[in-house]
Amino acid sequence: MHHIEIRSLSKSFRNVIALDGLNIKIGKGSLFGLLGPNGAGKTTLLKILATLINPDNGEIYINNINLRKDPRTIRELIGYVAQDIALDKVLTGRELLDFQADLYHMNKIKKYERIDSLINQLEMNDWIDRKCGTYSGGMKRRIDLAAGLLHIPQILILDEPTVGLDIESREIIWKLMTNLRNQGMTIILSSHYLDEIDKLADCVAIINNGKVIDQGSPTDLKNKLGGDRISLKVREFSNNEESETIKEILSKIDGISQIVVNISQGYSLNFIADREKDLLNKLKVELAFAKFEIFSLTQSQPSLDDVYLQATGNTLQDAEIFMTGKRDFRKESKESMR
Ligand SMILES: Nc1ncnc2c1ncn2[C@@H]1O[C@H](COP(=O)(O)OP(=O)(O)OP(=O)(O)O)[C@@H](O)[C@H]1O
Ligand SMILES: [Mg+2]
Repeated sequence: MHHIEIRSLSKSFRNVIALDGLNIKIGKGSLFGLLGPNGAGKTTLLKILATLINPDNGEIYINNINLRKDPRTIRELIGYVAQDIALDKVLTGRELLDFQADLYHMNKIKKYERIDSLINQLEMNDWIDRKCGTYSGGMKRRIDLAAGLLHIPQILILDEPTVGLDIESREIIWKLMTNLRNQGMTIILSSHYLDEIDKLADCVAIINNGKVIDQGSPTDLKNKLGGDRISLKVREFSNNEESETIKEILSKIDGISQIVVNISQGYSLNFIADREKDLLNKLKVELAFAKFEIFSLTQSQPSLDDVYLQATGNTLQDAEIFMTGKRDFRKESKESMR
């Protein structure tokens, strides 16, 4: 039996289709990663799982309990940490956790034990008695995570838990997620960081336009590409016209796919080359014939970036550049509203 089973889930907001018949199964005690560009439907899915909004169609079963029929029971099983956090500014972190625990009707002894243990696990001792208004982004995230864990949920739902955080906070959160998973908690997280998902997740779903377009363990997804990732630099290659010519030469070679021109760090081309064939020699011959001199040629295992590119037709880097702009804008507009 799966811990969570999501069947044909749909949700629209007026004329926007956020989820479009989405199916996902999540095993008990696994760390499940959701990858997808802005607007893919990740937050919508996580909010439905947390019973914060209702789907239009489809069903979710958690421990074989139908979420729509028994949301109260489901709520007890779940801890949810939202993408946008708004903490009270006047309370200290400890007071905030105390207040949250009272909402869960925890008894006093259990409450203080639990709060102390979370303060230690998330390394919050130094600043927990300061007012939340003075916290950095990483501190706020850790408080929020602790609040989501107070009632010891079976399932922890994290919407982009490490976005924009300093490396220390990210590492503390990674360590906690791994520990919780090892203790049997099911964890679902969305992220824009492919390395984070690659390192942590047992299973990944790539979501686009409200649908799952690929799903599996990071290793399986990478192996499915069936080739190595090659990065090619050609000497004195500095403009788009040349890159198009080289791209054309490459695309005529059977076994080479997903050719992407990279202009950010000097011109280079990335592609996937079938492992079975002796493609690199062929490539060298073809380029020499067209009078292009190879500057460097590196071969490596494919990464989740390549999987993502194959699945969505875009690199996540592109999506991230776009997202950074959008995030800054969102932040600014929120701040100017105050
Ligand atoms: N309350 C709402 N009202 C109208 N449209 C909404 C609402 N919530 C979400 N949407 C739309 O639904 C789609 C999915 O949004 P969602 O927030 O789930 O995406 P996401 O994958 O979490 O994106 P991001 O990576 O930017 O957080 C988007 O087109 C979004 O604009
Ligand atoms: Mg989101």
